[in-house]
Amino acid sequence: MRPIGRLLAATLCAGALATSALAAAQEPPAADAPKAKAESKPRAKAARRDRPGTYMGRPIADVMSWQGAEWLFRDTRVEEEQPEAMLDALEIQPGMTVADVGAGAGYHTVRLARRVGQKGVVLATDVQPQMIAMLKDNARDAGARNVRPLLCTQRDTKLPAGEVDLILMVDVYHECSDPEGTLDGMLAALKPGGKLVLVEFRGEDPDVPIKPEHKMTLAQVRREVEPRGFAFKTSHEFLPWQHVIVFEKPADEKSDRAGDR
Ligand SMILES: C[S@@+](CC[C@H](N)C(=O)[O-])C[C@H]1O[C@@H](n2cnc3c(N)ncnc32)[C@H](O)[C@@H]1O
Repeated sequence: MRPIGRLLAATLCAGALATSALAAAQEPPAADAPKAKAESKPRAKAARRDRPGTYMGRPIADVMSWQGAEWLFRDTRVEEEQPEAMLDALEIQPGMTVADVGAGAGYHTVRLARRVGQKGVVLATDVQPQMIAMLKDNARDAGARNVRPLLCTQRDTKLPAGEVDLILMVDVYHECSDPEGTLDGMLAALKPGGKLVLVEFRGEDPDVPIKPEHKMTLAQVRREVEPRGFAFKTSHEFLPWQHVIVFEKPADEKSDRAGDR
């Protein structure tokens, strides 16, 4: 992998991009409400209002700056995160269309490109143009010609609808300042039965040496992702520090999400 020599010293976190999100949750009708009344009036909705910079009760982390990209290629990362073992668990097949959302400088992108082979495609997105530029260099140096870099935004994943077999997000979801926009875009991009995989540092474990806002618990991830239309499949727990959480787009996916905007 090409050294990222033009990078400045590691400054890991840029300014917060957090926005507040507003979602509506349905309230169950009161047990003693007379039936006729319940039918004549629309059910009241309890609005959930997130404080700025938070989503569903957790702080949204700052986006990791491109200036710290060298850290993503640190020598100890293979031992700490075991990227090949993590990808083995996802059973990626040659010919698949996979997306590396929040790909950074392409640490996983080039590994995914090898696995899907010449007949497959890796759509590699990031919100920072500098990350996309480094990713292009690294993909070219690795001879990965099946990588399609895409500059996306927090609201728009820029992924094509209904074409993706598997989406991977490693150490990214907790940085999304518009989690609903990102999740809805990824759901639309997946084929029915397609997988969304979130790799997140374990928030349950105080010994994982990562700032709390850059970790997530499995319960919190499920609380946020499932209402957007994804079905939880499993969480692989063999990595030293991270959850590998797998969701599926149901084959008969309907737009009955609890928090539709
Ligand atoms: C900690 S880095 C991880 C990079 C890469 N996944 C890796 O493991 O090497 C997080 C990356 O996610 C990107 N990011 C944050 N929010 C994003 C979003 N909503 N969509 C796409 N990329 C995002 C950041 O710009 C940053 O490059």
